[in-house]
Amino acid sequence: VETKEGTRPAETGDIDAMIAVKDAATAGWDPPSAQPDAERIAGQRQLFEHLLETGSSAVAMREGAVVGFANAIVREDVWFLSQLFVRPDVQSRGAGAEMLDDLLARGEARGARVRSVLSSDDPRALGLYLSRGMLPAGWSMVHFTRRVASKVKPTPAPVVPLQVSDQPQVDALDRDIRGFAHPQDHAFLRTVATGHAVRDDAGMAACFYVQPNGRVAPFLARDDRSVIAAVDAADAIAGPDASWSVPSAASAVVARLLDLGYRPGWLSTFCADGTLGEFRRTSLTGGALL
Ligand SMILES: CC(C)(COP(=O)(O)OP(=O)(O)OC[C@H]1O[C@@H](n2cnc3c(N)ncnc32)[C@H](O)[C@@H]1OP(=O)(O)O)[C@@H](O)C(=O)NCCC(=O)NCCS
Repeated sequence: VETKEGTRPAETGDIDAMIAVKDAATAGWDPPSAQPDAERIAGQRQLFEHLLETGSSAVAMREGAVVGFANAIVREDVWFLSQLFVRPDVQSRGAGAEMLDDLLARGEARGARVRSVLSSDDPRALGLYLSRGMLPAGWSMVHFTRRVASKVKPTPAPVVPLQVSDQPQVDALDRDIRGFAHPQDHAFLRTVATGHAVRDDAGMAACFYVQPNGRVAPFLARDDRSVIAAVDAADAIAGPDASWSVPSAASAVVARLLDLGYRPGWLSTFCADGTLGEFRRTSLTGGALL
């Protein structure tokens, strides 16, 4: 029986309706991009398919229509709220809280140790997370795009293609830097982006993915010494439309991007009800995959 009112699990057939809700709820967040709309929507479809396959998702129904959606993922012992959006004309009437509580209950069933989210600056979002115990946890995600000429002469490290067989080393970097590994997301990234690695005598010094629209997401560097040359390598590959979502805890990455001519756009606040890794020496996949 079709759900006309209330929250139900999302299905593949809901993806286009979810993308329409997200577009309506985030109108004006990003400056107009050079990326063709069809390409952007195709990229969104791939992300939603991945979230449906590897996480739990809910849609809010009103009068038989999808008016909101939420996705959450569990990676090792970490629950992360990937997305939560309600159509503007239906906001502030309880749909967001209903979906969040549905996904939290499903996460609890999976036994996650920590619950986390990157909160927008919408006070309703932040209020929902605070009231469910997820408090600002020490850093914000800063979105950077290139704005001015580089002030420095880049010194890019040589890169080689990231291989499937590198995954155990990538997992080790993820655990060290973030506190958990997420090989299923790396498998997804291999299908939508190009992976690169920087190697030295001690193994993998850094790795990163560059998406077709220039997003460097994610980026991981083993130690402070490896950051600058790896950021410069990613910057050179990503080209003029490059963008990065960097935790403010990754101060060496932030400093190098500023030197290279990037400037910050919007912020999201990382909120959690327990401790994770320090998120130094990394850029994030984005608000949806951490
Ligand atoms: C954030 C969002 C998903 C919340 O969903 P919603 O259905 O609008 O919110 P709810 O009606 O469930 O209310 C959420 C909380 O905000 C409170 N609230 C409602 N309207 C409010 C307002 N105008 N100002 C401040 N708080 C408000 C509610 O009382 C509730 O808090 P409570 O449980 O302590 O009472 C939705 O507003 C949205 O899509 N916003 C834009 C996109 C966004 O920022 N998404 C979050 C990404 S992290």
